[in-house]
Amino acid sequence: MKIVVLGGGISTERDVSLSSSRMIYEALKKKGHQAVLLDVYLGYEDDYAGIFEKDVDWAENIGGIKESNPDIAQIKALRKDGGRSFFGPNVIEICQMADVVFLGLHGEDGENGKVQAAFDLLGIRYTGTDYVSSALSMDKSLAKELFAFHGIPTPAGIHVRKGQESAERVPYPCVVKACKGGSSVGVCIVHEEKEYQAALEEAFKYDEEAVIEQYIEGREFSCAVIDGKALPVIEIAPLCGFYDYKNKYQAGSTIETCPADLPEDKTREMQLISEKVFRALRLKKYARMDFMMDKEGKLYCLEANTLPGMTPTSLIPQEARAIGISFEDLCQWILELAQK
Ligand code: DAL
Ligand code: MG
Repeated sequence: MKIVVLGGGISTERDVSLSSSRMIYEALKKKGHQAVLLDVYLGYEDDYAGIFEKDVDWAENIGGIKESNPDIAQIKALRKDGGRSFFGPNVIEICQMADVVFLGLHGEDGENGKVQAAFDLLGIRYTGTDYVSSALSMDKSLAKELFAFHGIPTPAGIHVRKGQESAERVPYPCVVKACKGGSSVGVCIVHEEKEYQAALEEAFKYDEEAVIEQYIEGREFSCAVIDGKALPVIEIAPLCGFYDYKNKYQAGSTIETCPADLPEDKTREMQLISEKVFRALRLKKYARMDFMMDKEGKLYCLEANTLPGMTPTSLIPQEARAIGISFEDLCQWILELAQK
């Protein structure tokens, strides 16, 4: 098949996306597909006729995930046309030539449904869920409201808009998050009042809205759903601090155990909640749900990730491996779901 793997972009998760996309691209080539790896924002300036025969890898020299977030202003400066459009030169044209576009994008404008909606209008087939469920899942506050409606356990929380902060507080410790962030960018754990304002300002660097929720002390887990069915549960235990950007992407900084060491009924409970979240957010194809379990064993769903990481340290690939599915087969499976 002719496949465009689309990555990069200008979200705070650009580097993560580049890493995911490279892994997906390599896997699809091993599977015998004609693949092109394209940065959605930088595009492809050269003549693109016959691009699939060339197996274009625009990102040959791009390194791994840096410890800090990418410098978006620097990325934007690279665009000759001033970067007015989210899509770089020839991106739409090349995607229209593909049988399927494999979305390796993460974060806003990529994972929030806008690209999916644009592709629907253009008749471009893509991997992953549709625009409505992408938008609902990206907005942590809206997702939590749907969780509450469907009886899905989630930490108690409030929604705050920049410039309209109220005196309402979630008891400390609490977690302040950018409402539509990813990879824990703009997330702070707040232990006391004097830390609160700085945490809110950090979240507002990335988003006009923030979510403040009860901090759940305990163990962290994740559980993917593919085609409506849950995969094995994975436990994530950072060696130091919480599962932040650094602990997510620096190999060796987090211990991941899959299948998680949990009683069978707890594993099943988490899988059933994941499948319920999948239905509640109207998700299609695949997604990954993140959880906390408190000291009493109560589960809380934090969020759904609709274009979850596919990097060397990411979770879905490990969950798939636990049931004998290689990374290449996982990519092939996601690809086949896009054609259903
Ligand atoms: N937001 C990152 C990519 C994840 O959920 O894996
Ligand atoms: Mg996320």
